[in-house]
Amino acid sequence: MGYILAISNRKGGTGKTTVSVNLAAELARAGRRVLLVDLDTQNHCAVGLGVKVGHGEPTVHDLFRPGPPALASLVRATAVPGLNLVPADPVFEHGSGSRDEGLLKAALADPGLQAAFDLVILDTPPSLDLLLINALTAADGLIVPYVPHHLSLEGVRQLMRVLYKIKSRANPGLKILGFLPVMVAEHIRQHKVVTASIAHQFGAPRVLPGIRTDIKLAEAFGTGQPVACYAPKSRAAEDFAALGRFCEAALGPVAEAAAPAMRNPSRK
Ligand SMILES: Nc1ncnc2c1ncn2[C@@H]1O[C@H](COP(=O)(O)OP(=O)(O)OP(=O)(O)O)[C@@H](O)[C@H]1O
Ligand SMILES: [Mg+2]
Repeated sequence: MGYILAISNRKGGTGKTTVSVNLAAELARAGRRVLLVDLDTQNHCAVGLGVKVGHGEPTVHDLFRPGPPALASLVRATAVPGLNLVPADPVFEHGSGSRDEGLLKAALADPGLQAAFDLVILDTPPSLDLLLINALTAADGLIVPYVPHHLSLEGVRQLMRVLYKIKSRANPGLKILGFLPVMVAEHIRQHKVVTASIAHQFGAPRVLPGIRTDIKLAEAFGTGQPVACYAPKSRAAEDFAALGRFCEAALGPVAEAAAPAMRNPSRK
């Protein structure tokens, strides 16, 4: 069975989508068959990967509407070999639709998807709603990107409260893979203090190799490419390569491939 990794923080603007897109691309580059599922109605993953989603086209949010389609029918190819996307619906209203907290987990259990992908990455909205709960209920592991400012600690704490609730009932197996500092500037004292506080609360081994501030990430996003394609020699590309190596080691070897990566070449 493929590994399901959620990228979450209760706070907005902490690099969740940037990490989801670039880590997904990095792990696809390393040979994993990756499915990125965008649960945030801002639909930024499609933008960051240059995938056009027309009005009324199927999205992950159709799962939460009456008569849901199979998740496999929502998968779109991207320009990155080995990386596929299920986009989000910008007009889905948070809080509307099904109240089933296990809906995404059930949809991901589809044997066709299980055979087609080694890894599912879930980009999540910052709001504490059913979409975030669905992601944490479905996930095997969690990465929490945070900007090392004092205000970020509250967002991390709020997410941990949700996480412990979900661990205690729907998903006891959920593990924190790590806390990922992003937009790091090593010379800023506050960054060191906040990261030291995270290490103190959750254990130093849970603090992942960080992503430094690099405008190339925003530029790459604007051109619809991962930074490894747009600026392969940049600091950000270097940092995502290091994060990719960490995740490769944490996830272990890819299980024997049962089927080629799912592609739907009619859509992009
Ligand atoms: N390491 C970085 N260096 C410079 N800019 C960055 C970095 N990481 C993210 N950004 C920028 O910060 C902004 C917020 O990032 P992003 O959209 O990934 O956050 P988010 O947590 O997904 O936001 P939201 O909560 O709205 O979904 C974007 O403009 C992005 O380009
Ligand atoms: Mg986002």
